[in-house]
This record gives sequence, structure tokens and C-alpha cells, in this order.
Amino acid sequence: MGLSKRAYTFKKIRVSGPLWPNCSMSSPAPNFASSPFSITSPRRIPKSKFTYKQLHQLKSYSPQTPLRVIAHVDLDAFYAQCETVRLGIDPSKPLAVQQWQGLIAINYPARAFGLSRHVTSTEALKQCPDLIMQHVATWKEGDEKWAYHENSFKEMATHKVSLDPYRMESRKILKCIKETLPEKEQRVEKAGIDEVFLDLSAQVHTVLLERYPELRGPTPYEDPTERLPKVPTTVLDWAADALVETGEEDGEDVDPDWDDVCMVIASEIVRDVRKDVKEKLGYTCSGGVARNKMLAKLGSGYKKPNQQTVIRNRAVKHFLSEMKFTKIRMLGGKLGDEAVAMFGTDKVKDLLEQPMDQLKKLGDDTGSWLYSTIRGEDNSEVNPRTQIKSMLSAKSFRPAINSFEQGVRWLRIFAADIFSRCVEEGVLENKRRPKTVNLHHRQGAQTRSRQAPVPQGKPLSEAMLFDLAKNLLAQVVVDGRAWPCANLSLSVGGFEDGITNNKGIGGFLVRGAEAKAMMSTGRSASGGEPPAKRRRTKGNIANFFGPRDDKNKGFDAARAVLMKAHSESTREEEAEDDFDEHEHEHDEDDHFHDPNEGDVERPHTPTPDRNASNNNDNLYRSDTPPSAQPQHNTHSLPVPPTTQPK
Ligand code: CTP
Ligand code: CA
Ligand code: CA
Repeated sequence: MGLSKRAYTFKKIRVSGPLWPNCSMSSPAPNFASSPFSITSPRRIPKSKFTYKQLHQLKSYSPQTPLRVIAHVDLDAFYAQCETVRLGIDPSKPLAVQQWQGLIAINYPARAFGLSRHVTSTEALKQCPDLIMQHVATWKEGDEKWAYHENSFKEMATHKVSLDPYRMESRKILKCIKETLPEKEQRVEKAGIDEVFLDLSAQVHTVLLERYPELRGPTPYEDPTERLPKVPTTVLDWAADALVETGEEDGEDVDPDWDDVCMVIASEIVRDVRKDVKEKLGYTCSGGVARNKMLAKLGSGYKKPNQQTVIRNRAVKHFLSEMKFTKIRMLGGKLGDEAVAMFGTDKVKDLLEQPMDQLKKLGDDTGSWLYSTIRGEDNSEVNPRTQIKSMLSAKSFRPAINSFEQGVRWLRIFAADIFSRCVEEGVLENKRRPKTVNLHHRQGAQTRSRQAPVPQGKPLSEAMLFDLAKNLLAQVVVDGRAWPCANLSLSVGGFEDGITNNKGIGGFLVRGAEAKAMMSTGRSASGGEPPAKRRRTKGNIANFFGPRDDKNKGFDAARAVLMKAHSESTREEEAEDDFDEHEHEHDEDDHFHDPNEGDVERPHTPTPDRNASNNNDNLYRSDTPPSAQPQHNTHSLPVPPTTQPK
């Protein structure tokens, strides 16, 4: 990227007094290793407040060092930009992305007309007659792939939205960002469909040492607690960055220290990343630079579009105290609402006055997490995992559907959708494959889930997923009370790296018992019975012989599906009865799936909330406008983020 080669420009350089006779304008890098520690007047030498140890810790991305630099990059009006780029539309034209009658993304020119996500397409056109509205791509039953259809908005009953085009752009952007950063000094976390966290510490450390050779050591007296020399300048060049003010009269009078210099370097890196994404792919994004993830994320959203905001350590207090705490990561949802209700305010400023024991009314862990969070502390690491954990395909029905056959038609689309995504995950090459398949079914207020293992011995196929899904739906149907169904979704999870060593025939022996396990598959109900640990039982088979329920439409078809699966499973069992059952026992308690659960693992955060779910790819895969989705919060109150396992 050439950062190290770039001239480091200073608007103004004030040399720090007579102690630095070697310091000149062109070389802001006096050799501290020789001159500054002269024995003549050691006590007069001004020093940095940071130590050699803290500088060194940058190299290993330690969350402990106060010099740490994290960035958050978020695409502006993402889906809307995807459409302007795809269609080659002038980005200054107002454009919105439509999903049925609603708008799910609005570009900035359209926002100037006062449009927001919650208006309908009809209302939007009244407010902005020149608005370009592009409907999202949809899947139609029987189609091989999603497509952009004319007049899609009329086809809600027969089509399902596909956000695949946006996921594909998201992947390209992620790749571009990674290519911009030095291969060995990057740590990138995909935090949602249109955003990433970057831990820039190691890269900044390298640049710092290149520009300021005096920092290279050796550490004076071999004492890591020795403080660094002072920064040889008083004014840093922040280019076009939005700098958050310190809120203190003399805030800018204090000379820059190394944390400020680190931020300047980080902000140059972020500017380069954004420039590359724009030049190579045509997208604008906004960035935030700060000492941790929480602050960096607040920074990227502070000034939009196409800008970057730096929150220097000296500005953190002021920046946060002016904020509503409901804007902070993890505090956008239930927990935030609870805190608002408890303390009668949504302002950080007011919450800062609450002593720890008051905050602990929200729970011990939550309270202490909140206490440090509103003080700008967040030690969570940038997690470089970019691989997905699960995939979900969903559809909300308006009107609700009423038969097994109707449900099965949707399952065909879900299976095709998920299978095509698995193919992109490298499932065909057996790089990674899912372990479980889940079906969620909503009827009135009740959500039911059924789960089955994905047979591991044979190649994953669309037909296999479809059959598994059909079986799971059959189980729901024979249990009764299945109709009318308002929402159906299929997900696969537990992605595992493919079996690279030859497991031989053992892999195929799985089938019989797995088919059997399917008959007693994991169940959990948010409305009905509490999920209970149970070993494999006869499961739904009992229902076959129960009384016929005429109101349960499609019962016969569902029963036939289950009968067939059962007879197949017993046949295989007979042939392969030396199979070790334990390997396949699953504990349904651990497998409840939140339909909102995403591709990307939730950040190890307190709780799902509105902000966090914005980061969640899967949310947008569902057919319901995200704002209208029910919250399946099976989680309890947050616990503070803990350090991630390496
Ligand atoms: N999205 C959505 N429903 C939501 C939130 C987000 O469908 N409740 C989609 C949006 O269409 C968006 C993408 O997810 O394009 C990313 O969301 P977000 O970053 O929150 O908003 P942007 O539209 O990108 O706008 P901004 O410039 O404010 O980031
Ligand atoms: Ca965005
Ligand atoms: Ca976002």
C-alpha cells in the first residue's frame, strides 16, 4: 500500500525546545537512542506517557495496550449502492431498494427527500417523484436460480426474495479490503453483510517504527516500563478526517502523544482501504478509527456517507457523554430498553452518574460490562473468522399457508437456495459441510423447530436437503396444529471442515442410524412444551397410529413421507447394526436456532439486539422486512464480552 513510503506531512512543526538539537523539519525523527538519555539532565527530558512495553504489545494485537487502533468500515446505503453499481446508475440519482411494497434501503440522495426505510413505495414516490425503485431479486418455484424479475412486487405469493446478489458484492468487498492490507499484518472481522472491523495495531506498529526509528529500541536499561520519548511534533495531519473534539478548552493544547500518532497512521490506512473499494468496485463507505471496536463502530456511523471519523483517546469522554447509550453496540435492543426504563434516561451522561451497584441491578455481569462500556472501555478482540456458521432461508406468508403441499413447495425453494450457497462454501469439494438441518415453523404465536442431522456419508445435494426438510415438516404436521402457518424457514448449521483423511466405510455406516435419529429428531417449541433433553425415542412414529385429524390438512401426505423415511431407516439399520449410536445422539437443548441467527456468528456479545442484528446477514435473508420480524430472544440478559479463545 506504500504507507511507509508516503511523506508524513505536518501542518506545523514545533520542535520541542533545546533538548533536541538534531531535530529538523525534514526529519522529525531525532535519534533518541543516542542523544536524549544523556546523563547531563535526565529529569528534564519530556517523555511520552506510554511505555516501550505498550508499544511492543501493538505487534501482537494485545487488547491491553492503550496504543491499540481499531477501525470499523461500513458501506453507505449498501443494498442501494449494490443496485446503482449493478445497473450503472448515476449515484447522485435518488434510488431505493424495494421488497414487495416496502423499501429496505435508501441511498443518500433519496434520504435528502426525507425518505427512510419505513415508508411504502407509494408514499415514497409522492415524496420523491424521480425516485428509482429497484426490487430485490427473487426466487420463483422451479427456477434454478434467483433473478431480477419485472414487477416482482406483485408476486409476493409465489416468489421469495433473494439477497444473494448483495452477499456476492459483500464478498468482493471483503476480498478487496484484505488485498489492500499487508498480508501478514491484517486482522479482519466480517461483522455483517456490509461492515468489517480491522485491528490495525500490528500494521501501525510497523509503520510507526519505519517513520520513527528512535522507537526501535533497544529498550533503554532493558526496562519495558521505561517511557517512550516524546513525539517530535505538536501538530498532526488528519487530512479530511472528521476529528471528534475533546470538549475541553485546553484539549488541543496538550501535545500529541504516540496514541494520537497511531490514530493518524490508522486513519491513513482506512483512507486507503476506502479508496481502493471505491476505485476497484465503485462503492463508498464510511470509517471509524478508535482504540476499540465499540468506539470504532460509533465512529463509522458518526458522519455518513463517504467520511471517516477519528475518536482520539483524548476525545472519548466527550464523544460518549454526548451520546445516547442506545446507540452503543449491544445496547440497541432489549438491554438498552431495560436500562432506559430502569434509570429513566437514554443518555450516557446520566448513566455515568450511576454507581456500579446501581448498574448491577441489571445483573452483575451486565452491570459491570455497562459500567466500563459507557466509559469507553471494550477489550473485545477483532475476530478474524470470516467463515459462516449457518445459513437460513425463510419466508413469511401473507396470507398464511394452509397445507402440507403448499409448505413443501416452499421447501423446494429453500433447499435450492441453501444448496447453492453451500456450493459457494465449497461443500462440493467437501471443504466444509453442514452437520444439521433445522426447520422452523410458525403458527400463531407458536414457533416450532425440528432438527435432523445431515447424513455425512454421501455428497450433499439439493435433493437430500429437500428430503430432510420435507421430513421435518411432515413431523410438524403429524403433531397437529400446523395450520395456518405464517412463517417457514429452513437452516443448516454446524459447518465443519470436510473430512480430509479417509474415514473409509465408516462414513457410510452413518446412514441407517441417522435416518432413525431423524424420526425422533430434536424438537423445541417456543410456545408449547419446554425443550427437554431426551434420548432418541420412537418420536413421531406413535402419531402414525393415532386418530386421524381431518382438520390437519396434508396429514396423509405427511404421514406417507414419514412412513417412507421410517421403512428406509429400518432397512438400513438391519444392514448396519454394528453402528455406534452415540456418535449421533444430539441434544436438542443445545440446538435451538434463532431464525434471526446469522451466517456470521454473533459477536460474542451480551445479547442479540437491534444493533447487533443489523450486523447479521441472515436477518436480511428472510423474506419479512427485518423491522417486522419477530424477536426470538431466547437469550437472557447480557454477560460482558470475554476475551476470545485464540
Ligand atoms: N438492512 C435491512 N433492514 C434493516 C437494516 C438493514 O434490510 N433493518 C439492510 C439495508 O438495506 C442495508 C444493509 O442491510 O443496505 C446494511 O444495513 P445498514 O448498514 O444498517 O444500513 P445502510 O442501508 O447500509 O445505510 P448506512 O449508510 O446508514 O449504513
Ligand atoms: Ca451500511
Ligand atoms: Ca451495517
